[in-house]
Amino acid sequence: MRIIRTRDYNHMSEHAAAVIAAQLTLQPNSTLGLATGSTPLGAYVRLVEMCAAGKISFAQVQSYNLDEYRGLTHDDPQSYHHFMWENLFSRVDIDVTRTHVPDGSNEDAASTCANYDAAIEAAGGIDLQLLGIGNNGHIGFNEPGDEFVVGTHCVDLTESTIKANSRLFESIDEVPRQAYTLGIGAIMHARRILVIASGTAKADAVHAMCYGPVTPACPASVLQLHPDCIVIADAAALSAC
Ligand code: PGA
Repeated sequence: MRIIRTRDYNHMSEHAAAVIAAQLTLQPNSTLGLATGSTPLGAYVRLVEMCAAGKISFAQVQSYNLDEYRGLTHDDPQSYHHFMWENLFSRVDIDVTRTHVPDGSNEDAASTCANYDAAIEAAGGIDLQLLGIGNNGHIGFNEPGDEFVVGTHCVDLTESTIKANSRLFESIDEVPRQAYTLGIGAIMHARRILVIASGTAKADAVHAMCYGPVTPACPASVLQLHPDCIVIADAAALSAC
């Protein structure tokens, strides 16, 4: 694990965008694993700017997102499909038919999850996986538990995650209780991982990820076993380290 300490959110975002841009320059046909949430927004803004300036291109990229709320349709403003369209896909030169987000509107969890894993495998796996980290140490929606779940699966979100994500909904009752998430297997099989974190709310989780025991009680701690994992965090997120 390489830890890059940045000053603040903007500085973190600049560094993260630079890593993704370098990945695209070195391998224009990269398969990217993408993340939603507040943390990657600044990096996405910078990538959009770089693409508009002709410095990078997503034309040959394919992408697989980490997760999606179960029960939301693609066009639901709270869906991660919608988030990706609004914040990245509609603003860069990516071929939208080569972007993938788990299908939250498919109630058949078993086939949704199996198809997603099969598609990633058929694509040859993920070259660069972007990850945020939850306050409780989750990656994607792999919540703290008794075991690492390897495959894409349907999860019951923890109260901590529902509370954290309720800031984006009108009320906590509107936050979906379940989600489809890539499992630890596809994440760990990514050839390179980039974790980004900002703010004091992440400090304990970042400490547990980097220095705690490798345990499913902190899913992000498994990243200690990855041979090429870069953590870009700001001073506040590293304040417990
Ligand atoms: P956030 O979410 O970027 O909105 O803080 C991160 C996560 O829960 O993985």
